[in-house]
Amino acid sequence: MASGNGSNFEALVEAGARQLLPAQVVSLVVNNPGCGASQRAERLGIGVTCLNHRSFASRDSLDGALVDHFQAVGVDLVVMAGWMRIVTSRLIRAYPERLVNIHPSLLPSFRGVDAIGQALAAGVRLSGCTAHLVSEEVDAGRILAQAAVPVVPGDNHATLARRIQAQEHRILPLAVGLAAERLGLLHSQP
Ligand code: GRF
Repeated sequence: MASGNGSNFEALVEAGARQLLPAQVVSLVVNNPGCGASQRAERLGIGVTCLNHRSFASRDSLDGALVDHFQAVGVDLVVMAGWMRIVTSRLIRAYPERLVNIHPSLLPSFRGVDAIGQALAAGVRLSGCTAHLVSEEVDAGRILAQAAVPVVPGDNHATLARRIQAQEHRILPLAVGLAAERLGLLHSQP
């Protein structure tokens, strides 16, 4: 699931292709038609489904459509790789322990929107990213992987975001692998 640029989505696809992640990305859902993630999926040959939140009456009905889609495809795990919408229990309960999110802060610090802006405003010297399971409380589910980066003098939103994203691309595939392992989804090759 992605809403914007899609660099984390592409990192997952690449990790699968290089067998750094024992899983394959089989489907991308976007909510913004034509977004960068959608363009990346077309280049990478991965099917894209657009579920535009503007066409749904509620968060719950959007999440119902997401669940229908994932069940039709038959996925084992769902990754919110830059999905800029709050999800409801409809999706969370359909994929218990199977819904992974990437967040640009060292949780539990700076939950919610604009975590990078919050970190800059707070003047922290260390920031980073967290891959975690999604629970009903926003950005509060079980932590799977984290990486820290320094905040350096002169940093702005863009420079810090770039430093954090480089680490997101590294830890998100690791976290998906860990989530799959916890669920017993990984099988040795015959
Ligand atoms: C990432 O920084 C992620 O932490 C946040 O949204 C951003 C998505 O970036 N949730 P991209 O679309 O994967 O490039």
